[in-house]
Formats: sequence, structure tokens, C-alpha cells
Amino acid sequence: MRDPILEMTGITKVFSTEEMDTHALRGVDLAIYPGDFVSICGPSGCGKSTLLSLLGLLDTPSSGRYAIDNIDVSKLTPAAAATVRNEKIGFIFQSFNLIDELSVFDNIALPLRYRRVKLSNAEAREKVMQCLHKMGMAHRVSHRPNQLSGGQQQRVAIARALVSEPVLLLVDEPTGNLDSRNGDAVMDILRELNNHGTTICMVTHDPRYADMASRKLHLLDGKMLDADADAPTSYQTQPGGTISV
Ligand SMILES: Nc1ncnc2c1ncn2[C@@H]1O[C@H](COP(=O)(O)OP(=O)(O)OP(=O)(O)O)[C@@H](O)[C@H]1O
Ligand SMILES: [Mg+2]
Repeated sequence: MRDPILEMTGITKVFSTEEMDTHALRGVDLAIYPGDFVSICGPSGCGKSTLLSLLGLLDTPSSGRYAIDNIDVSKLTPAAAATVRNEKIGFIFQSFNLIDELSVFDNIALPLRYRRVKLSNAEAREKVMQCLHKMGMAHRVSHRPNQLSGGQQQRVAIARALVSEPVLLLVDEPTGNLDSRNGDAVMDILRELNNHGTTICMVTHDPRYADMASRKLHLLDGKMLDADADAPTSYQTQPGGTISV
């Protein structure tokens, strides 16, 4: 079998305040292989977003081992973690997280500005425009994010995640702020990216979308249920505001 892109062993995460400790993750083992499309489901508060933050090096585990490309990254300095994050990982969030003060073009170009190896302006422009074309958003290159519909903002956010050609795409509830038509369109894009080789790890409440993944994992109370087990999916999509476009 091929080596995993990433491997977590015995990962725990405790959020401590003076009053209490919250055990968000209680010993998670997880391996993701090149070309995987992994979905992680579980009820609200079970630790899904915490797990994605650790996978994406946005936070550090309390204990356990985490390796990306066989390199232990659980104890990197913040600066070293940022370098690995910028070069290897793309993020897509429920709330798009675009910067309204920047144009669509500049939002997508942003990750390129933080790379160790800088591109020329012409190279960067070509990469940004390629991603915009792929997402069908080239006609909105000069718009600001708040001038776009929810579905369009999510496509810009996907373009931004792809511009650095990450080895892993981490996706947290990508359809949570979208109506079902735009949600389905975003899922089609993710499936298409995976068909072309992008490795994806996606958190979702929606069993219908979780079923689209090639591996379904279930998190419950900070622990992974047996890998790919047919766990109950009685939890449902949480009611949330939908954006019509
Ligand atoms: N910064 C924090 N400080 C303290 N507790 C936290 C913090 N972040 C998360 N938690 C707690 O950790 C647990 C897991 O939270 P997490 O956000 O990972 O859940 P989730 O599965 O993503 O939930 P949802 O489906 O509602 O997004 C929750 O009990 C939450 O209250
Ligand atoms: Mg969450």
C-alpha cells in the first residue's frame, strides 16, 4: 500500500480554562492516502472542526503523533507550521472567509504571496486565472466578495484553496451556508477535483454529502468509531441560514 499523506496516532486535544477542561479529541487515529476522498460525520460538538484545525496545522494537539509526508509535524514552531500549511494544505470553510476589502483576484492570489518560493507577477496571474476559469468565475475577477452570491463566493474560496496546488484539501461544512442547488454544485466540484487526483478530507453534517466520499468516517464524543463502519447517521443537517442566489 502507498504511504499515507498524513497519519495521526493517539491524538488528543484538551481546551483548558481555569474553570474546566474540555476534552474535544480523545485519542484519534487517522490515515489519509493520496487520492482519498474522506468524509467525517458526527453530531454537533463531537470534535470535527477541532480535528480539521489540527489536520491543517491551525492548532496543536495536546498529545499524540501527527505526520505529514512522514515528517512529524505535531511539535513544529508556529512559523514552521505556517510554511508547511501554505505549501501543502488548502482550506474551504462554511463561511467562505474571503476578505471583502480585496478583489476576487487578490483574494485568490493571497496564498501565493506567502510562499517561500515567490512567483513572478505573470506566473501568479496565470495561476489565479486558471483557477478562476476552472470555477467558472473568470467574469467576476474584479468584483469584491460581498458583491457575489453565496454560491459564487464559495467557488472563489475553492479557487483560493487550489491556487497553491495543495496535496490535501480540508473542507469544513462547505455547503452549510448554501441552498441545496448551490450545495450540490459545490459537491460536484469537489468530486470532480477528487476524480482528477486531489485528496480531500471533508467534515459534513449531511449524510447525503458524506455518502459521496470514498471513505466515510464517524466521530463521536472525540473518538473515531471503527474506520468506515456503518455507524448510525441519525444526526441531521443543522438548521442554518441559507443564502439564495
Ligand atoms: N477554543 C475552545 N475552547 C474550549 N472548548 C472548545 C474550543 N473549541 C472547541 N471546544 C469544544 O470542543 C468540542 C468540539 O468542538 P468542535 O468545534 O470541534 O465541534 P464540531 O464537531 O465541529 O461541532 P459542529 O458540528 O457544531 O461544528 C465542543 O465541546 C466545544 O465546545
Ligand atoms: Mg464544526
